[in-house]
Amino acid sequence: MNFGTSSLDFSILPYVEGVNPPVTKPNPAFLTEVGEQGIRDLLDRFYMALHVGPIKDIFPESKEEMKIAAQFSADFFIQICAGPKYFNQNRGAPQMRGRHAPFRITPNARLHWLVTFEEALAPIIEGKVTSDENMQSFWNYLNVFSQWMVNSKD
Ligand code: HEM
Repeated sequence: MNFGTSSLDFSILPYVEGVNPPVTKPNPAFLTEVGEQGIRDLLDRFYMALHVGPIKDIFPESKEEMKIAAQFSADFFIQICAGPKYFNQNRGAPQMRGRHAPFRITPNARLHWLVTFEEALAPIIEGKVTSDENMQSFWNYLNVFSQWMVNSKD
């Protein structure tokens, strides 16, 4: 029997060194339903949590810098969901692996990053702002593409 629980699956794929699985972009409807401001608020929550969490040392030190970084990141997520190309306009070509290369991103740091992202998603999930299908597509994107950013061993 289904008691109205959602079918969302936030499990995390294990990182396998040297394997970069194919990435599928999130459904554009995730952006339509959450809205640009909703994505900006999401990235603000995420960066404020990163700022005080276990991987804070790889991120900018001040809260003010983190607020700015969050909005560049929001530009990217709006763009990857088929929205306006804010990131290209403000920062240039994404080249995400290259941009992450200066930072030590270990498999364990990826786990913290994903768990922190899931927590930041909570108001969107609990508020049923978007369908389970669109939410899942966004999580799947994070889950898979975050493996590409790993560039160091634990
Ligand atoms: C789905 C995977 C990921 C995406 C789409 C993503 C996206 C981004 C974006 C758009 C930026 C800003 C780049 C700029 O403004 O020039 C950024 C920066 C950064 N990311 Fe990621 N990232 C991902 C995974 C990770 C992971 C797993 C970590 C670490 C555990 C990480 C750590 C950082 C750091 C340290 C920066 C630099 C500071 C900042 O500008 O935020 N990222 N990322």
